[in-house]
Amino acid sequence: AAAEKGGFNSFMEKEIHDQPSAVHDTLLGRLDETGQLTLDELRIDESLLRSVDKIVVIACGTAAYAGHVARYAIEHWCRIPTEVELAHEFRYRDPIVNEKTLVVALSQSGETMDTLMAIRHAREQGAKVIAICNTNGSSIPRESDANLYTHAGPEIAVASTKAFLAQITAAYLLGLYLAQLRGNMYADEIGEVLRELQAMPEKIQTVIDGADAIKAMGTGMGETESVLFLGRHVGFPVALEGALKLKEIAYIHAEGFAAGELKHGPIALIEPGQKVFVIAPSPRGRNSLHSKVVSNIQEIRARGAETIVIAEEGDEAVEAYANHVIRVPQSPTLLQPLLSTVPLQIFACAMAEAKGYDVDQPRNLAKSVTVE
Ligand code: G6P
Repeated sequence: AAAEKGGFNSFMEKEIHDQPSAVHDTLLGRLDETGQLTLDELRIDESLLRSVDKIVVIACGTAAYAGHVARYAIEHWCRIPTEVELAHEFRYRDPIVNEKTLVVALSQSGETMDTLMAIRHAREQGAKVIAICNTNGSSIPRESDANLYTHAGPEIAVASTKAFLAQITAAYLLGLYLAQLRGNMYADEIGEVLRELQAMPEKIQTVIDGADAIKAMGTGMGETESVLFLGRHVGFPVALEGALKLKEIAYIHAEGFAAGELKHGPIALIEPGQKVFVIAPSPRGRNSLHSKVVSNIQEIRARGAETIVIAEEGDEAVEAYANHVIRVPQSPTLLQPLLSTVPLQIFACAMAEAKGYDVDQPRNLAKSVTVE
C-alpha cells in the first residue's frame, strides 16, 4: 500500500499532488492542431446542442460544487440560463425539463444512485444528458446520451480532490464547446481561454510546491473547533468545498458563505479568534469583485477574526487585513478555483492528520453512495 501511495502518507495527499496531471490529462486530445476544440467523443447531435434553451447541472457532494463553479463560466460564455442542483433535490421537485433542456451530470464514480435517478427522470421528460464522469463504463455514462470523461485517474481517498479539479476542467471545455458551436464567442476569445487552461497544470504545481507552509498552518490549528470560509463569484463554491473538506475529514464544524451574505447573518458568528478563510478574486478583474472582498475581510478583521486570505501573487490590497496570506499564481478569476481550492485541500488534510484521523477513510462516509 505504501508504494501505491507514491511515498505520501495517504492517498488523499497523493491525489492532491496528482492534480496538475489530472487537469493536464483532462485537456489532452481535446484540441486539434489548429487549437480548435473538438470533443468528437461527445457524439451528440450538434443541432440539438444549438437549440438547447436551458442547462441543468446535477450532482452530489464535491461534484455539485464543481457544478456551481462551472455555472459561472457556462452562463458567461454561452448565455444559456444554467441551473445547478443537488441530484436528489432535482429528482423529487417536479422540475421543468423538456427536449430543449441539456442536463449535465457530474460524478467521479459514475455510481452515485441519487445522480443516476435524476438522470433517468430527466431523460423520461425528453432532456438530453451529458455525463462528466471519471470512471469508464460505469452506470452514469452508460445511462447518459453522451459522455465527456475526466481523466483524473482512479481516486481512492473518500474525500474528493483531483476529481473536483478535473470536473471543473471538463465542464469548462463543454462550456467553451457550446459557445463555439452557438457562436457566442469569437475563435480568438476561445483560444485565449484554452491557452489559460493549458497553463493551469504548471500553476497548480506552484501551489503544491508551497504546501509546507499551508500544512504547518493546518497542523497548528489542531485544536480549532470551527472554521468559516468566505468567497464571492466562483470563490463562493470554493468556500463551500473548503468547508466540506474540513467536515469530512477533520470532523469540525465548518461553513462556507457567499462573502456578500456576511452582513445578512454570518457576521454575527465572528468573535475574536474565529478563523476565517477568504478567497480573494483577481484584482486585475474588470468588475469591483476584488474590492468588495477586501471590504469583507476588513469587516471581519475589525471584529477580531483571524483571517487567512488566499490571494493572487502581487495582490497587496489584502495584506493590511490578513493574518496569513496564501499566494496563488495569477489567473483569470474564472479559472482561479483550479488554484484556490488546492490550499484548502492541503489544509484540511494536515489538520485531520494532526488530530490523528485516517484521512483516506473518514468515519460514516463512503466513496460512492450507491443507495438513494
Ligand atoms: C460521496 C463522496 C463524495 C463525493 C460524492 C459524489 O458522498 O464521499 O466525495 O463528492 O459522493 O460522488 P460522485 O462519485 O458522484 O462524484
